[in-house]
Amino acid sequence: MDKVALYTQVQKELLSILEGEENLTARMATVACLLAQAFPGNIWTGFYVVDPDTPQELVVGPYQGTLGCLRIPFGKGVCGTAAATGQTQLVVNVHDFPGHIACDSRSVSEIVVPVTNKAGELIAVLDIDHPEAGQFDERDADALWALVKVVFG
Ligand code: SME
Repeated sequence: MDKVALYTQVQKELLSILEGEENLTARMATVACLLAQAFPGNIWTGFYVVDPDTPQELVVGPYQGTLGCLRIPFGKGVCGTAAATGQTQLVVNVHDFPGHIACDSRSVSEIVVPVTNKAGELIAVLDIDHPEAGQFDERDADALWALVKVVFG
């Protein structure tokens, strides 16, 4: 199955599983789980959430993968850049990304998508990492943007 079809299937499954479940942690954990299972080549799939106690900082949320760093200030690394700009970050090779935070040295390509709530406020970013360069493109960006919009918006 090509990746666009896979994302469509994951999104359909998520909407069915999460129906009636409003808890954000449960929703994020389920998104991370299904995306990680659908794309087993990725080494990290999960969320950094906006910490209400320190709003200019992200704190690690539900994820699947190796140990992630706990906190990322807005503007730092790929996740912090997505949070500060509100724009999806598609990184072909993290070694070319100034200020990249290497939580797992195996991570080479990344995509980070901002997650907003119904009111349009940033609540988190969805971060997905792969051990080879150039694994993410506009198809991932479009599918993940649509997915977080239906699940969290
Ligand atoms: N590489 C990310 C940090 C988070 S982890 O890789 C899990 C970044 O630069 O934002």
